[in-house]
Amino acid sequence: MEVRVLDTSDEMGQAAAELFAQRIEGKPDVVLGLATGSTPLKMYDALVRLYEQGKLDFSHVVSFNLDEYVGLPTNHDQGYRYFMDKNLFDKVNIAKENTHLPDGMASDLAAMCAAYEEAIKDAGGIDIQLLGIGGNGHVAFNEPGSGKESRTRVVDLTSETIRDNSRFFKDESEVPRQAVTMGIGSMMEAREIVLIADGADKAEAIAKALEGEITAAVPASFLREHPNCTFLLEREAASRLSPGALESGYGAGWGTIGVSNPRHPSRGGLNFVLRFSGRKPK
Ligand code: F6R
Repeated sequence: MEVRVLDTSDEMGQAAAELFAQRIEGKPDVVLGLATGSTPLKMYDALVRLYEQGKLDFSHVVSFNLDEYVGLPTNHDQGYRYFMDKNLFDKVNIAKENTHLPDGMASDLAAMCAAYEEAIKDAGGIDIQLLGIGGNGHVAFNEPGSGKESRTRVVDLTSETIRDNSRFFKDESEVPRQAVTMGIGSMMEAREIVLIADGADKAEAIAKALEGEITAAVPASFLREHPNCTFLLEREAASRLSPGALESGYGAGWGTIGVSNPRHPSRGGLNFVLRFSGRKPK
């Protein structure tokens, strides 16, 4: 896996946008896995800028979002469909019928979850999946305890996630208690995964995900078992990673370390590009 530590959240958003832009250029009908929350906003802004400059065409792109609250009407301003329309879909030339989110208002949620997995399969699977991370190590709404084989399903949100997400609602009592989420098993089938994180409040979760045990207690730790996964971290989010672990490659068999930002080689030693693989290349 690759871990890149960037100086600012702007640079993190830019780096993520560049990666996604490359994938869209390389395969115009690419299938994107998308996330909501505060962290992807800079990346979505950067993608919109590329589109406005005529450098990116979304007309054949297909997307599947990770999750949606249960019970929020589609047009609710904290619903994830509303978020995606406002921050990305309405600003680029993606065909709305190519954009998919789980339907948190479905009368038969179990059937909707199964159909969502089928729709991803029918589209050929996700080429590149974007993830954020919760302060408790969740990815999508796979809260601690979520198994590696878990699939798209309804989950109860933890009190920590309800508290974290209450910043978007009038008060905590308005935050839905349940969500529909892709499972760990579902997202691990994506051909490529990119996790982005910024801010000191993510530092502990990032350190546990990259250096702790691979365990359901920290769902993001399962990503270390994915063959093509990149973490793009703003420096505060990377601040709890131990230099020793950086050098030894998180227990993987081989690792290299280099400066990712040659323009600022002297900044605090945090501009690393780390590439890890189980095998030493020939
Ligand atoms: C949202 C999602 C969540 C967020 C995570 C971080 O689709 O899947 O797992 O990525 O809660 O949220 P922010 O970015 O708001 O800190």
